[in-house]
Amino acid sequence: MQQNEHETPNLRPMRAEDIDRVLEIIYDHDEDDAATAEYTYRESGLTDKFVLVHEDDILGTTGFNAVEDTDRTYWLSWTYLDDDYQGKGYGRLMMEGLFDILQARSARKIFLTTSDYQDEEDGDIYESARAFYVALGFVEELRHKDFYAPGETMIYYGYRFPGLAEAEPVSEAEQAEEKELGEDEEPLIPGALITGISEIPETKDAYGLEWRYTQDGTYFDAAMIEKVLAKAREWNARTLFASFPSDLEAIEALLGPKGFKQHGRLVDFFEDGIDDCHWRFDFQSAPNGGAAKGKPHHGGNKKRRGKGGRR
Ligand SMILES: CC(C)(COP(=O)(O)OP(=O)(O)OC[C@H]1O[C@@H](n2cnc3c(N)ncnc32)[C@H](O)[C@@H]1OP(=O)(O)O)[C@@H](O)C(=O)NCCC(=O)NCCS
Repeated sequence: MQQNEHETPNLRPMRAEDIDRVLEIIYDHDEDDAATAEYTYRESGLTDKFVLVHEDDILGTTGFNAVEDTDRTYWLSWTYLDDDYQGKGYGRLMMEGLFDILQARSARKIFLTTSDYQDEEDGDIYESARAFYVALGFVEELRHKDFYAPGETMIYYGYRFPGLAEAEPVSEAEQAEEKELGEDEEPLIPGALITGISEIPETKDAYGLEWRYTQDGTYFDAAMIEKVLAKAREWNARTLFASFPSDLEAIEALLGPKGFKQHGRLVDFFEDGIDDCHWRFDFQSAPNGGAAKGKPHHGGNKKRRGKGGRR
């Protein structure tokens, strides 16, 4: 860009008074994302959300969320540029600004999700976004076919920050805490228990399996899996998605025989060497094709369906 320093747009933290303009930019491209973004900005606040500004104008927005219980892993949040400013290098400028912020926090990996949604008028509206992320160094890691709805794939991209060979050094306080646990304490042996299923937002009849860690190596059993599959059938689920850390080695022997298919992984998601392994169970289409029992469906207002990560 041929601009002097005074004119160069810069990234600054998003403020409450920016929300309307940011929503306008998102809405222009994706009504669903704008609705979800509005809810999230107002409910969860604007921490780690940013705007690209030029003088007093807001040209675009981006941001991130830290993923709990991981070693410095992040999701990219809504990343949009005003139509008038696309294709001029501002997207790269905005993302490089974001990467500088993340690198200052010793970020290790950042992930995003997008889709291959085909708009009736405009076709593959995320094609250029996918090319953009690849140009920035993101790598496609996983695809879920028929995720949002039959025919619409969810695509995960991951970016590994360079120059981070080792995990963050353990602080003195953490070392002291570890010592306090005592030498004869039983080591924690992670296992997993299923806690339920819920419909995945922005999807049509796709459900996610919810679970929590145990600390004594116990796992859910075959009966529990049968129970959640029955519940998902009752609610007319199309697909039940699940994901578990790759170091929970017992999962494969539990899910495989019940008809779940392993479906790729997000590499080094939890920490280096521990991936997020994805599974899915596809149900036959329900014979009545119809309404769920006891579980509300959200309406079909999806003109466009957009992505940009977990927010
Ligand atoms: C995606 C978006 C943020 C990209 O910003 P942008 O300013 O248009 O992109 P830039 O001009 O900075 O391009 C950066 C790089 O991406 C590449 N790129 C961008 N669009 C591309 C396309 N359609 N095909 C191929 N490469 C493309 C550019 O070639 C450039 O590569 P280079 O820097 O190595 O030369 C912006 O276009 C946008 O907001 N689009 C609509 C909303 C959207 O889809 N958001 C993403 C939701 S997942």
